[in-house]
Amino acid sequence: MIKVENLSTSYKTIDGDIHVLNDLNFTIGDNEIFGIAGESGCGKTTLLKTLYDIIEWPLVIDKGRIVISGVKKDKEYSYESGQIKKTWWNNIAYVPQAAQSVLDPITRLKKQFLDSIPKEDRKMETKEQTLKRVASYLEELSLSPDILEAYPFQLSGGMRQRVIIALATFMSPGVVLADEPTTALDVVVQRGILMMLTRLQKQLKNTMVIVSHDMGVHYQITDRMGIMYSGSMVELGATEDIFKDPIHPYTAMLVNALPRVGDKSAKVGIPGRPPELKNPPKGCRFAPRCPYATDRCKEMVPSFSEIKPGRYAACHLLKEGGSIANG
Ligand SMILES: Nc1ncnc2c1ncn2[C@@H]1O[C@H](COP(=O)(O)OP(=O)(O)O)[C@@H](O)[C@H]1O
Ligand SMILES: [Mg+2]
Repeated sequence: MIKVENLSTSYKTIDGDIHVLNDLNFTIGDNEIFGIAGESGCGKTTLLKTLYDIIEWPLVIDKGRIVISGVKKDKEYSYESGQIKKTWWNNIAYVPQAAQSVLDPITRLKKQFLDSIPKEDRKMETKEQTLKRVASYLEELSLSPDILEAYPFQLSGGMRQRVIIALATFMSPGVVLADEPTTALDVVVQRGILMMLTRLQKQLKNTMVIVSHDMGVHYQITDRMGIMYSGSMVELGATEDIFKDPIHPYTAMLVNALPRVGDKSAKVGIPGRPPELKNPPKGCRFAPRCPYATDRCKEMVPSFSEIKPGRYAACHLLKEGGSIANG
């Protein structure tokens, strides 16, 4: 489980602070695939890095708390930001954006697997015994153990991504964070990666967090999802409900921009672009692009609150029951 409380972060730059995550509050459960969506630049990667505890200058946590309790078969971990690093690989794994560069292109994969498994998890094993475990894990994931002899540069982009996911999940972590795991891969390869992630989550019954700007990815594999806009969480709920009945005007635009099977009409993108984070609008950050925005929206930041059971949104225009009051 991941619990985020009042979390705000900023990048410290010579031109001043860039507030990227703004007072985030949400919980991600055990045994679910949780998606994080939103246009590029809205802070998805910053959030994932913060959850994984890679807070590197100029990124700073200004306030708030993250608690992660990853359930593994034998242990239960509960820890806060600052200690999350202690269970990297073992209980929390991270597949970074553009993960391809994680692998050293000129080192055989078997060495990269051996090097990434913490010593205490190798116990008294010989190298050969550990590699045998790795080989049978690869087979479980429908990957040929022969790739252990290969160098990453010899593999296709899709195969490298599968290997990285296998590497990240070898220790059966209770939490897996994946940043844009299918971006830059072709559609057929994408589908294979998504199936692999779904299968892994079912097997491990753990918490999986998938970041993607592609709403299609969320529709296909996530159970619940959060929509981010300009560093804030603007909506959260069960994926199915969000697609059926989006609450926030920004979510509605993202959902409507997604092409549907059999729909031949041209899809227009979302008009306008996200605001400069350096100098964001005063009230609701979405107000300048929102067709329903009122004076209040331009002045006051809306709070993120539960609109109906399990559905959260941050919008001034909502009335009871979750529809746009004057839309
Ligand atoms: N190293 C950095 N220094 C200053 N600002 C940064 C840095 N990295 C990211 N940002 C700011 O954070 C914003 C969000 O970035 P990011 O989290 O990568 O968004 P996303 O993953 O949604 O595309 C960027 O638009 C940029 O303004
Ligand atoms: Mg990103």
